[in-house]
Amino acid sequence: MTRPAAVRSLSLLAAMAAVLSTAAAAPPTGTGTADGTRTGGPPAAAPATAQPATAPSGSPPAKSPVATGYGGAVASVDPDASAAGIEILRRGGNAVDAAVATAAALGVTEPYSAGIGGGGYFVYYDAKRRTVQTVDGRETAPRTAGETLFLDEDGEPLPFGEAVTSGLSVGTPGTAATWDAALGAWGTKSLRDVLRPAQRIARHGFTVDETFRQQTAANEERFRDFPASAELFLPGGEPPVVGSTLRNPDLARTYGELARGGGRALYRGELARDITDTVRRPPVRPGAGRDPRPGDLTTADLREYRTKRQAPSRTEYRGFGVYGMAPSSSGGTTVGEALNILENTDLAAADEQRYLHRLIESSRLAFADRGRWLGDPAFEDVPTRELLSQRFADSRECLIRDDAVLSSPVAPGDPRDPAACRTRGAAAPTTYEGESTTHLTTADRWGNVVAYTLTIEQTGGSGITVPGRGFLLNNELTDFSFAPAAPGVHDPNLPGPGKRPRSSMSPTIVLDADRRPVVALGSPGGSTIITTVLQTLTNHLDRGMPLAEAIAAPRVSQRNTTTTQMEPGLWGAPVRQRLETLGHRFARNPEIGAVTGIRLLPDGRWLAAAERERRGGGSAMVVDERKRGAAG
Ligand code: GLY
Repeated sequence: MTRPAAVRSLSLLAAMAAVLSTAAAAPPTGTGTADGTRTGGPPAAAPATAQPATAPSGSPPAKSPVATGYGGAVASVDPDASAAGIEILRRGGNAVDAAVATAAALGVTEPYSAGIGGGGYFVYYDAKRRTVQTVDGRETAPRTAGETLFLDEDGEPLPFGEAVTSGLSVGTPGTAATWDAALGAWGTKSLRDVLRPAQRIARHGFTVDETFRQQTAANEERFRDFPASAELFLPGGEPPVVGSTLRNPDLARTYGELARGGGRALYRGELARDITDTVRRPPVRPGAGRDPRPGDLTTADLREYRTKRQAPSRTEYRGFGVYGMAPSSSGGTTVGEALNILENTDLAAADEQRYLHRLIESSRLAFADRGRWLGDPAFEDVPTRELLSQRFADSRECLIRDDAVLSSPVAPGDPRDPAACRTRGAAAPTTYEGESTTHLTTADRWGNVVAYTLTIEQTGGSGITVPGRGFLLNNELTDFSFAPAAPGVHDPNLPGPGKRPRSSMSPTIVLDADRRPVVALGSPGGSTIITTVLQTLTNHLDRGMPLAEAIAAPRVSQRNTTTTQMEPGLWGAPVRQRLETLGHRFARNPEIGAVTGIRLLPDGRWLAAAERERRGGGSAMVVDERKRGAAG
C-alpha cells in the first residue's frame, strides 16, 4: 500500500501504541472492573478468574467472559462448548482439534445457531509456517436452483417469513465437511476423538439457561408444527425451564455415526437420505395450518458437496496484517475495505464523535460496494483484490465529509477503475439478513489460532429438525437476494445452481509485522457481523481498549441504509445528539453482535474474551491460568 508519509507515521505510532498498551500492563486500578475492562486511564489488568473446564457433576462449568493463562484458550458463547475445547487442548490437541470440539458441542448447546445442519467459515493461523489458511464450508443451493428460486407463481418474491420456515431455503450443509477438511489438513486428532465431549453433552444433557429458553420461546410456534422439533426442544410441550437438563440422544447417535464414518458420512447413505427426505417433504404436523414449501435438495447434491480451501482475504492496517474470509463471504473484503478507508483518519487521536462518524461513513461506503460486487466467485467475477486495494479505498474515502452525512443508499464505486470520489452505476439498498450465527476462537500451546464462525442462518434455522437425527436444518438460502436489490441493477447474489449465498461471516485473525498473532475474533449477527468486527477491531487496535472492553463497548451498525442502528449504551449518550446534528439518523437496536476473541499477550499468555452481557454473556477459558494479572 502506498499512502502519504504523514498518515504512514500516524499509523506506525498507533500500531506501537497498541502494542505498548499491552506491554506496559498496569496492575489493577480503581477504574478497572472485574473482567479487565476500564473506565478511563491506561489499559487495566485483567484479573484471571477460576476456570474449571470440567464441572462438578451435574452442574454446568463456571462461566466467565475473560480468562488469561497458558497452554491454549477457547472463547465461545457457551461454557459447555468452551469446556469441550479446553478438554481437547488438555489432551494434547491443537487449536484446530479444539475448534471442531467446541463447534460440535455448540451443535448441542447452541443448536439454534450452529450445527451439522448448517455451514460456516474456518480461518486457521499456522504458527510454524506463520501462514493463514481458510476453509469455506458455506452451504450450496440445489443443482436445480435458478434465479427464480424465491419467486412465487406470479413472479413476486416470496414473503421472507414463508421462505424461512421451508424446505426451499435449506442448502446442502457444509459443517461436517468443514470438520473433515480442517482436521484432515491441520488437526492432530481424529473426528472420533474431538466429538467425544459433544457426544457426552448430548447424551447426558446440558443445563438450560435464560438465553436458551428465550430462543426456544421465540421459535415455539413453528417448532410445534414440526413433531421432531417439538419433541426435542419443547419437552412436555413447552420451552424447557431454566435450570432443567436438556438431552439430545438422537444427536449423540448421529455424532456417533460421524465418529465412525467421518464428516463425509453426512453426505451419503441413510443420513443423506434422511436430510433430503426432510427437505423435500417437510414433516409438518397434520392440522398445523402451515404448508411449508418443499426444497429440491437431492442425495446427488449432498454427494457432490465440497468445501473450498482458499487463500484468506488480506488487508494491511497500520502495520498489522488483517486476515479474513474471502468470497463467498463478504466479510473479509467489507471489513478490509472499511479499514482501508479508516486508515486515512487518525482514530487514536479522534474524539468519540469523530470516531463514530468516520466508522459509520466508511461502513456505509463499504456496504455499497459489497452490494454491487459480492457474490459467489464461482458464478460472479468478484474483484476481491481490487476491493482491498488502498487506491480504491482512497477513492471512496474522498466522499466522506466532516460536516455532513452521506445519503444512503450510496452508489458503489468501481474497484477496477478507481477515481477520486467517483461512483459507478446505480445505488441499491442493502438486502435483509437475519441476525443469528455463532463464533468461536481457539488457540493452543504451539501458537496456532482458529477463528471459526458457523451458522444455520436464522435463530432456529428452518425450524425443521431431521427426524431421529437431533439437528435442525439451515435456512441459509434466504441469504440470497430473492429478486435484484434494485430493479435493473445487476445483483451478484441471486440464486443459482450449486451457488453459495453471500455471507457476512467475518472470522478474523490479525498478525503483527513478524506475522505473529495479535488478536483473533468474530461475531454472529447477519450483516451486522461486519460492522461488529470492524468496530471491535478499531476499538482495540486504534483506540487502545483492552480486548474485553473493545468487545463490551456499545455498538453502532451502518449498512448503507438511511438509519444507523445503535445500542442502548450510546442511545442515551450526548454523542448521539451531536451526531444527529451532523445529519445522522439512528434506530435503537437492543443488541448488536456477540463477539468472542483471543489476544496473545506480550508475556506469552493467551487472553480469551467474550461478551459480558449480550446473548446472556459468553465463556472464555484457558488451559492453565497459573500466573495472573496482565492486560488485554
Ligand atoms: N447467515 C449469516 C451469514 O452468512 O452471514
